[in-house]
Order: sequence, then structure tokens, then C-alpha cells
Amino acid sequence: ITGGHPELAAATAPSSGRPSKLSIVGAGAVGATMAYAALMRGAARTVALMDINAAKVEAEVLDLQHGIQFMPQARVEGSDDVSVCAGSDVIVVTAGAKQKPGQSRIDLAGDTIGLMRKVLPGLVDVAPDAVYVMVTNPVDVVTYASLKITGLPSHRLFGSGTVLDSSRMRFLLADRAGVAVQNVHAYIAGEHGDTEIPLWSSATIGGVPLLDWPGVRGRAPLSAQDREEIHHEVVNSAYRIIAGKGATNYAIGLAGARIVEAVLDDQHAILPVSSLLDDYYGISDVCLSVPSLVDREGVRETVSTPMSEDELGGLRSSATSLREVARQFGF
Ligand code: LAC
Repeated sequence: ITGGHPELAAATAPSSGRPSKLSIVGAGAVGATMAYAALMRGAARTVALMDINAAKVEAEVLDLQHGIQFMPQARVEGSDDVSVCAGSDVIVVTAGAKQKPGQSRIDLAGDTIGLMRKVLPGLVDVAPDAVYVMVTNPVDVVTYASLKITGLPSHRLFGSGTVLDSSRMRFLLADRAGVAVQNVHAYIAGEHGDTEIPLWSSATIGGVPLLDWPGVRGRAPLSAQDREEIHHEVVNSAYRIIAGKGATNYAIGLAGARIVEAVLDDQHAILPVSSLLDDYYGISDVCLSVPSLVDREGVRETVSTPMSEDELGGLRSSATSLREVARQFGF
């Protein structure tokens, strides 16, 4: 299914000068919401959706095309055939089983790695030069396995990682501190999952280190108890939302659109995406999230964010747990 205005596709292009094309594999709740978020933010001139369920992808594409009048100029297409992803600048992979209530992301590993083995070779055939962003869970293990399956250079295939978790943490911090979320800079590192680590020691509010935050508007400074509660809430957010509505989609859709913008607009944005680490504080040969520079080439560099001994210990154990899972599946 095609549609929209091809001549508009040239309106904005990534630094290569060609019309920017984003393809999203998987037209489920996450993929469809990510397509919507990317279109509403004008992240790409062409958004293509691909799903093996032809009726579903056609319906999602039609529903999006009918709203083109209300969004920045764009072209929306879709198909159950991988050829619809041809020539993409960025491909986001969201296809895969979704967590059932109470199920951990790691529990999905077997199914999703099998799916990646089926899907990725065909994608790389039609879009050998794209930047690949893995969203399918367990995203860190899926990213590591996908690098092995595709043989792509490690900067050009990475995972959405803890961009979403960091957004949850910033929301909760801003809410308790009584300030705008845009003034909170804080990262969750490690696994996008149960072993993730809040980097409190480098967090700031309005440029003030979080641990020295004096409190404003009559609010108390944030205590160790606050930090404990926020950490617990971030780790358990997905379980809570899945129990209530069956899946998460809005925040992960927006996080994915944000990552796509950093690539297509060559932003050199610092985002906690999941990439293959090589001697990051001595951690190597595992994919997990640390603050990283994201640009049109993908993840070119990680940032050596200062960490406390506790935080570094937590990152190391997150790495160990992820490496063990990857080994279980032969990687
Ligand atoms: C979540 C899913 C995307 O954390 O893992 O909402």
C-alpha cells in the first residue's frame, strides 16, 4: 500500500540529501504507535510499516494515511512483504512476542531470537546500509544476537535500551521535585529490565547535582527513600501497565521516535541506548545501555559517565546476567 505525496518526500532529507525513510517492522501496538509518534514529530518523510499480517498492516497504514493532513508532510506505506523496507535509512524492529502479565522480558528470549533469525537476513538484503534499532524484547540480548546474525558493524545496529526507563525516571524525579521534566538529566543504565541501574551520582536538576538538590517550591530535597521508591517504580512500570492494559506502547513509541530523530537528523544526541560495549569500565562483549552518542551512523561512541562504586557494581552484574542469557542461546 503506498500513498501520500512522493514529491514531498524530498522536503527534508537526512544529511545524505535523499528523502529520509523510516521502516518499522511489526505493526503491533508498539510498532503502530511508533509510526504515529514518528509521523507526528516529523521524524521522517516516509514511514513504512511491515508486518506478516497483511490485513493488520493495511489497516494501520490506511488509518495513518487518513490523518496525513494533520501531520508534518509525510508519506505512509506498508506491506507484508519485506521489499517495502527497501532503501530505508533507519529500520526499527518491534516484531516479537509481548510480555504476558507477570512474565519477564528475558522469558521472551527464545521466541524472539528465533524470529530475528527469520526476519533479519531479508531486511539486510533490501536495506544493507540502514541503521537498525532493535526494540523487541529482551532488547539487550536481541541486540547482541542480531549483531551476530547480521554481521553488521556494531555501530550500525543497536537497541532502544533504557531510553524509556530513563524517561520514566526523569518523569518521577520531576514530579517529586516539582520541576519541569526537561530540567532533569538522569540516566538508567544496564539492562532494559530487572537488573537496570539508576545513575544517581551523575543526575542533575537544573544543573544542580541531584544528591545536593535543596528542594524548591517548599518541597523537601529528594531523600534516599525517594530514590529507592523511584528505582522500584521504574523497574516495575512495564509489569504494572501490562497488568492493566496488556502492553505498553505510548512511551516506548515516543522513545523510538526520539532515537530515530537522533539518527536521521545526525544529532550527536546523548541517549542511553544498548550497544556492544568494548572495554567500558572494563565491560566488553555484551550489549547494554550506557549514555552514548547517536548520529546518522548509529552509535559511534559511549560516554564514560562517572559512576559510584555501587553503580559500577550494578552495571557489571547487569552485564554478567545478560551475557549468561546470550550464552544460553548459543551466542
Ligand atoms: C517497556 C517495554 C517496552 O518497558 O519493555 O514498556
